[in-house]
Amino acid sequence: MARRKRRAGHSDLVVDEKKALHRIRLTINGEELELAFSPRRTLLEVLRDDLDLIGAKEGCDGGECGACTVLIEDRPYLACLTLAATLRGKRILTIEGLAGNGGLHPLQSAFLTKGAVQCGYCTPGLILSAKALLDRNVAPTEEEVKKALVGNLCRCTGYQKIIDAVLEAARLLQAESPGNR
Ligand code: FES
Ligand code: FES
Repeated sequence: MARRKRRAGHSDLVVDEKKALHRIRLTINGEELELAFSPRRTLLEVLRDDLDLIGAKEGCDGGECGACTVLIEDRPYLACLTLAATLRGKRILTIEGLAGNGGLHPLQSAFLTKGAVQCGYCTPGLILSAKALLDRNVAPTEEEVKKALVGNLCRCTGYQKIIDAVLEAARLLQAESPGNR
């Protein structure tokens, strides 16, 4: 039987069984990559362990907390429940890819100015869920913000500051693109 070797940070990467590796091309934060991994690994494992993209957090590891939220084709998904092997050709955004050359995304700025970040563990997931909302609706109501963030738990701030931050980011985005109003 073929032996498996384990390396720190690559716990499931099969070295002796190269044929067992799943190879796909996909785009992460604007960069096209070819990756090889065991078919049973989750997107969260690949991001954090293989690519050192540790913005997506491992909270419950069971679909309950939203800390691992990333955007796949502009829609929020739980990376802990998403098999990486299903993502051939997909476009993925993690929090590391959000800030542009012009600096922080308005959501990142608003989370800071509105005091919506304490320990920060939930913040990447919340911001990406909020981005998916603002991408399709740049002027959401408070109720629409609450609904969009219902899958993202925060143990620190309470939710009002987070909601205020998303509404502030919406105002900033509208100011940047008045045609969106
Ligand atoms: S770590 Fe994925 S939902 Fe909690
Ligand atoms: S800021 Fe700590 S969990 Fe949300």
